[in-house]
Amino acid sequence: DKDNHILPKDFPELKNDTFLRAARGEEVEHVPVWCMRQAGRYLPEFREFRAGKDFFETCRSPEDCCELTLQPLRRFPFDAAIIFSDILVVPQALGMDVQMVAGKGPTFPEPLKEPDDLQRLRSKVDVESELGYVFRAITLTRHKLEGKVPLIGFSGAPWTLMSYMIEGGGSTTHSKAKRWLYRHPEASHALLKRLTDVIVEYLLGQVKAGAQALQVFESHAGCLGPVEFKVFALPYLRDIARRVKDRLKESGLDNVPMIVFAKDGHYALEDLSQSHYEVVGLDWTIDPRAARQRTGGKVSLQGNMDPCALYATKECISEIVKTMVEAFGTRGYIANLGHGLYPDMDPESVGAFVEAVHTHSRRLLNH
Ligand code: CP3
Repeated sequence: DKDNHILPKDFPELKNDTFLRAARGEEVEHVPVWCMRQAGRYLPEFREFRAGKDFFETCRSPEDCCELTLQPLRRFPFDAAIIFSDILVVPQALGMDVQMVAGKGPTFPEPLKEPDDLQRLRSKVDVESELGYVFRAITLTRHKLEGKVPLIGFSGAPWTLMSYMIEGGGSTTHSKAKRWLYRHPEASHALLKRLTDVIVEYLLGQVKAGAQALQVFESHAGCLGPVEFKVFALPYLRDIARRVKDRLKESGLDNVPMIVFAKDGHYALEDLSQSHYEVVGLDWTIDPRAARQRTGGKVSLQGNMDPCALYATKECISEIVKTMVEAFGTRGYIANLGHGLYPDMDPESVGAFVEAVHTHSRRLLNH
């Protein structure tokens, strides 16, 4: 039995495929819901489990990742699980040192400063040997989920990863990374291309390991304008989706729905809806009806309640969710927050959010 858990085969039958059906725009009985960062510090059991352990050590332990992924599912009837990991494991695979510093967040002791620094990166990345621990976490978790809900895999998008690798950590202006775009466009494209190649292999590996959907996080879209986005972000996002889908087909594997989440990238909504992703994730700055109009029914939409609305009362959360579900409509819609949960949020409010999505959408669908 234990050995079976490490092989990506004979997975338990999926009992709740609502999330996958919504991603494909098919009929559903209720609107599916999950939350970005649903495995996180707002859960006391998460804080307890992570206490005293190094963040990236935890990421490298398939058993720990599995446990942390399952924690929120034990509390709330989420319609999807997302594997516990981090987007910064990809820069690590390219040879960069990344530490999680308490109170500061992810930190690169030696960020890329000038184009010459690209030579420090591994030229050939063996994704299986560098990131195999994520694949093993996915396989184990897919078994341990017992078919309860689908498992989402993910990656950071090239621009977002590039900006971390140059900034060396969080930033409000992203001016060091943007300096590269304006001053070293060729080196920027070279780096973005290398990241794209690794990300494609990484996402494919996740599907082969058992991921049933994929989300690509372009968390730093908001610091680009429409022109820079079209040059330095969009082509790579498109390339990733197309190559992953082509490669799955070549390997005789089933397609999996792909979600693109470009935080604060409202200016790119039309382009994102025509980029080979089945689902476009939205932050809370976009009006649901405007998003439907601008994406022309070509994709499913995911989002987009302001996470801070979870500071409101249960009744208030329910009203906000009702308005949101009515505005998006129940078809081709996956409810989520417009960004991740914050550590100070009340788990009860998360429960109220999930319940409100299910209740209001069932009412609209007469179920
Ligand atoms: O959503 C999930 O539940 C799955 C797990 C997940 C994590 N990080 C776990 C995590 C996912 C999908 C990510 C992606 C990620 N990581 C992004 C993209 C999403 C986004 O928020 O835009 C980004 C930008 C990162 C980089 C990163 N990792 C940041 C900025 C932080 C927060 C640092 C801090 O101390 O506040 C992390 C750490 C991190 N990743 C935590 C979790 C649960 C919290 C740290 C901890 O557990 O000790």
